[in-house]
Amino acid sequence: MSDQIESVLAESRAFPPSDEFRAAARIADPAEYERLHRESIEDPETFWGRVAGELPWLRPFEAVLDWSGAPFARWFTGGQINASHVCLDQHAQGERADKTALVWEGEPGDRRTFTYRELHLEVQRFANVLKARGIGKGDRVAIYMPMIPEAAMAMLACARIGAIHSVVFGGFSSTSLEDRIADGDCCAVITADGGWRRGSVLPLKPAVDEAVANQPGVRTVLCVRRTGQDVAWNTERDVWLHEALEGVADECAPEPMDAEDVLFLLYTSGSTGKPKGIVHTTGGYLVSAYLSTQTVFDLREDDVYWCTADVGWITGHSYIVYGPLANGATMVMYEGAPNAPHEGRFWEICEAHGVTIFYTAPTAIRAFMKWGDEHVEKHDLSKLRLLGTVGEPINPAAWMWYRDKVGGGRCPIVDTWWQTETGSIMLTPLPGVSATKPGSATRPFFGVDAAILDEEGNELPQGKGGLLALRRPWPSMLRGIWGDEQRFRDTYWSRWPAADPPLYFPGDGARTDEDGDFWILGRVDDVLNVSGHRLSTMEIESALVSHDQVVEAAVVPRPDDLTGEAIVAFVIPAQGADDAATLAGALGEHVATEIGKLARPAEVRVTPRLPKTRSGKIMRRLLRAIASGEEITQDTTTLEDPTILDELRANGGH
Ligand code: WTA
Repeated sequence: MSDQIESVLAESRAFPPSDEFRAAARIADPAEYERLHRESIEDPETFWGRVAGELPWLRPFEAVLDWSGAPFARWFTGGQINASHVCLDQHAQGERADKTALVWEGEPGDRRTFTYRELHLEVQRFANVLKARGIGKGDRVAIYMPMIPEAAMAMLACARIGAIHSVVFGGFSSTSLEDRIADGDCCAVITADGGWRRGSVLPLKPAVDEAVANQPGVRTVLCVRRTGQDVAWNTERDVWLHEALEGVADECAPEPMDAEDVLFLLYTSGSTGKPKGIVHTTGGYLVSAYLSTQTVFDLREDDVYWCTADVGWITGHSYIVYGPLANGATMVMYEGAPNAPHEGRFWEICEAHGVTIFYTAPTAIRAFMKWGDEHVEKHDLSKLRLLGTVGEPINPAAWMWYRDKVGGGRCPIVDTWWQTETGSIMLTPLPGVSATKPGSATRPFFGVDAAILDEEGNELPQGKGGLLALRRPWPSMLRGIWGDEQRFRDTYWSRWPAADPPLYFPGDGARTDEDGDFWILGRVDDVLNVSGHRLSTMEIESALVSHDQVVEAAVVPRPDDLTGEAIVAFVIPAQGADDAATLAGALGEHVATEIGKLARPAEVRVTPRLPKTRSGKIMRRLLRAIASGEEITQDTTTLEDPTILDELRANGGH
């Protein structure tokens, strides 16, 4: 950790926005930005009340914020609003009716385009299909989809009728899907036969069949025909969307939702135990998603905006669906892999659709760098005017490459720090005013009161790495963990027990520099970040030990140029287990089935023992050093048996 801080400290480049960018930016005057920011902190009710007033409420709110029940915040109480109405009706019935809302490209090259009027119609019809299946307000609906327009429509259709959606990333296994369906007690699953991924079909319906086999609460599986292969069919439960849409009514009035009614659940891995169902409500979430999309991406009427995330992650919720549509933006959506059929696919899409704003993850940028400049140089990217990153700290080399090669040296980069739990961007440059720095997420967004604290809650001086804390509530903050209030309090609000009202602990370390800009140092706990996806060591370990040839397992990250972190698994084999190489191979497959390919260890090391404390806790920090081939400089006195270190080092990986 201290090395990281050193190398980051050495980064002193700063890039103020160009005059050309500033001339057209929404917020370009530093004094105006300071004034607004100060107001958002000192008088949040006025600030957020004004922003919220820009959205179409079905009934006006009476109060902006009630923090008396901290850590449970209530925003915009008394107000009623509907997310699909905000995203669609206001545009479809106004000047944006014939504006393109969504340009979609499938991996095989097929294209579909929807205007706001058309998307509005599709979503209402989709909503009527859900209603006809008896789905209504408050019901939970799992969405397990490829990146096709119907994924966004499914979310908006749920929102329209007040059903709570729970999107599960299509790359997760049937076991992961089943866990999430069971935890949320879902009554329906929306899926597709499959999606296209690197030239072949990624089957989805078979995984759903497995996931719901023992979930009798799921009475409907609504299936989109995308790839056309044969799928098993349960005539009582399964419905083809295209058949259900026949003869359905075109109109479906939006369900008036209280501002604090739940809009969606989204599961995220924690450092311990099962995934947490993060709860987001309607009013505050929309207000934050709306304002951040507009100001962070400096959105203008004629922009073509592309966020490359999957709808299975929070970025897909806030910055593909709700934020851009609430602003009436034109957005691009792409189904497939960035290297299918060739490694310039993203740039081809940017050129073809005239993308002006491009938002992606550092792991993708590192892959593009590895694939070579020629793929970028082949395409005309001159329409791009703003770039963004999210998901993990970006290393300065990747940042500079992104700026020079993709942005032609002229596009500001917004490095946005936030989480599933925060719902919207928390630390970020504002592109018309901030001097951006390679590797820094710069400043707290409007209404965000961020600080670097030590374990006791004292604010640390500039330059010192510590725990990141958020000291005030914000509209899109999580409202809880589904069905587990205690875990919500323990995980996020108990790091500084003396604080009253409580402070939010995101689990990340950070520091500020001499300009007051924030630099994120990564997770302070054991969560792995593979290709920008947070995976819990616990989950992977429990998947490993569920294999009958494994006695015990410990999982640690190892730095990886491509994926950020790669997974290294240390396993103790059962007696009579296969030889190390065979076992390692089998375990890779096993984890991929249990959790998903994402969680497949890059390396499996078979070992007779694991380093433990005297109280029996596995010392993951030591394993981390061993996995990265570093020298062990840490205190090993708590180690139960120090000879184990040489033993572990001697064991190569598979
Ligand atoms: C990390 C993604 C550094 C961080 C929106 C956070 C980042 C976790 C950045 C949340 C960034 C996200 N710089 N680290 N710009 N963005 N992270 O829930 O550790 O998938 O806590 O939300 O990713 O991941 P999540």
